[in-house]
Amino acid sequence: MTKDDAGNQMWGGRFASGPDAILEAINASIDYDQKFYAQDIAGSKAHANMLKDQGIISAEDAKQICAGLDTILSEIENGTFEFSRALEDIHMNVEARLATLIGPAAGRLHTARSRNDQVALGFRLWVKENMIGLDKALEGLMIAFLDKADEHTATVMPGFTHLQTAQPVTFGHHCMAYVEMFARDRDRVQSAIRRMDQCPLGTAALAGTSFNIDRENTSKALGFAEPSRNSLDTVADRDFALDFLSCASVCAMHLSRIAEEIVIWSTPQFGFIQLSDSFSTGSSIMPQKKNPDAAELVRAKTGRINGSLIALLTVMKGLPLAYSKDMQEDKESVFDASESLELAIAAMTGMITDLTVNVENMKKAAGSGYSTATDLADWLVREAGIPFRDAHHVTGKAVAMAIEKQCELHELALEDLQSIHADITAAIFDVLSVESSVASRTSFGGTAPANVVKQVAFWRERLKN
Ligand code: ARG
Repeated sequence: MTKDDAGNQMWGGRFASGPDAILEAINASIDYDQKFYAQDIAGSKAHANMLKDQGIISAEDAKQICAGLDTILSEIENGTFEFSRALEDIHMNVEARLATLIGPAAGRLHTARSRNDQVALGFRLWVKENMIGLDKALEGLMIAFLDKADEHTATVMPGFTHLQTAQPVTFGHHCMAYVEMFARDRDRVQSAIRRMDQCPLGTAALAGTSFNIDRENTSKALGFAEPSRNSLDTVADRDFALDFLSCASVCAMHLSRIAEEIVIWSTPQFGFIQLSDSFSTGSSIMPQKKNPDAAELVRAKTGRINGSLIALLTVMKGLPLAYSKDMQEDKESVFDASESLELAIAAMTGMITDLTVNVENMKKAAGSGYSTATDLADWLVREAGIPFRDAHHVTGKAVAMAIEKQCELHELALEDLQSIHADITAAIFDVLSVESSVASRTSFGGTAPANVVKQVAFWRERLKN
C-alpha cells in the first residue's frame, strides 16, 4: 500500500477520496466484531502455518506472521490495542497492525483467503465455543433442579391445568419436568454443535482458490471435524448462528415458564416458595414487599432472545448466493442473545438452588379445590365396578354436596357419601388424602414419590456420562 491510497488501507487503491463519515458509520463492524478477536487470530495462525506447510509462503514469513499475531493478541488482551473504525472490522484491524509490526511479510497472510471465509470462520468458532459453554451451563441448571427434586420427592402440591387445581402432584415431579426440558435443550445444543463443526477456511471469497492449499490441515488445527464441502454455501451460510438462536429461543421459553411459576408461587396468596434474600428485591415505598425481580427479568429476556432469532431470519431471507454485506448484521443479535441467555440461566440456577419450599402451604393447597375427585371416581371404578363415566357423575354429585356443605371431599360423612352411592365404604377415605392420591400414581412417568426417586437416580446416572 502507498501513502496516497485514500481512506482504507486495504482496498483504498482504486478510490479517489476517503469514505464519507456516514458510510464509515454504517459499514464498520469493529465495535462489535472485536468480540471474536481470539478466534480471528487463531484462524490466521492456522492459515499461515498451512501456507508454509504447502510451500506457498516461506517458513520465515510464517514465523514472523505468527509472532506478530501473538503480539497483537496480547495487545488486545491487555487493552493497549487501538481499534480503528476506518479499518472496518476485526480482520482488517488485525492485518493492518500486523503490517505495522512485521512489515511486508504481513501482506502474504491473506494469500488464498478472503474476508468472506475469514468472518465465516471467526464467527463460527465463537458461536461453537459459546454453545459448548451453554451446554455446560444447562448441565448446572439441571443439577439445581435435580437436587431440589431429591429434597422434595414426596412433597405434595396442587397440579394445575388451566392454572386451576387439577390433581395433587409432588413438587419433585414438577422439578423433574424442568430437568426433562433442559435435557432436550442440551440435546438441541449438542446437535447444533455437530452441524456447525465444519471448517470454512479456504473457501475464500466464494469460489475456492487456485493455490494448492490443504483444508484438512487448517480444519484439524482449528479443532473442526472436517472442512466444509461447498465454497458458495460456506461463505453464504449463517445457519450456525440461526441454530444457536433457535436453541436459545426454545431454552428461554422454558426458562420463562419456570420464571412465571416462581412469580406466582412466591406471592403471599400462593405462598408455596420463598426466594432467598440474595435473589429478591425490596420496594422503595412498600416496606413489606419482597419482589421476584430476577424471575421477572428471566421471563422478559425471552422477548429479546426471540427477537434476535426473528431479526437474523429476516436478514438472511431472500439473500442471493454468496456473501452479501447484509450478513454483517448477523453478529449483534447473537451476542445480545448469548449474553442474555447466559445471565438468565445463571440467575435461574441461583434461584432454584436457594429457594425454600413452604411444605405446609403446598400441602394445604393440594388438598383444597376437590383435587382428589378423580381418585374418588377411580375408586368407584376399581372397588365398586362402576363404569368410569357413571363414576364421574357420582363424583360430581359428591363435589356438589361438598360445595354446599362448604367442606372438602374427605370431610364429608360416610352416610352423606352413601346417600349418593350405596356401594361406597369407609375405605374410600384412604384415597381421598393427597398423600395417597400421589402415591397411587405409579404408572410410568407418573407423579408418585417412588417414581420421582427413580427418575432422580436415572438423571444423576445420565449426567455422569
Ligand atoms: N465485516 C464483514 C462481515 O462481518 C467481513 C466480511 C466482509 N467481506 C466483504 N466482502 N466486504 O461480514
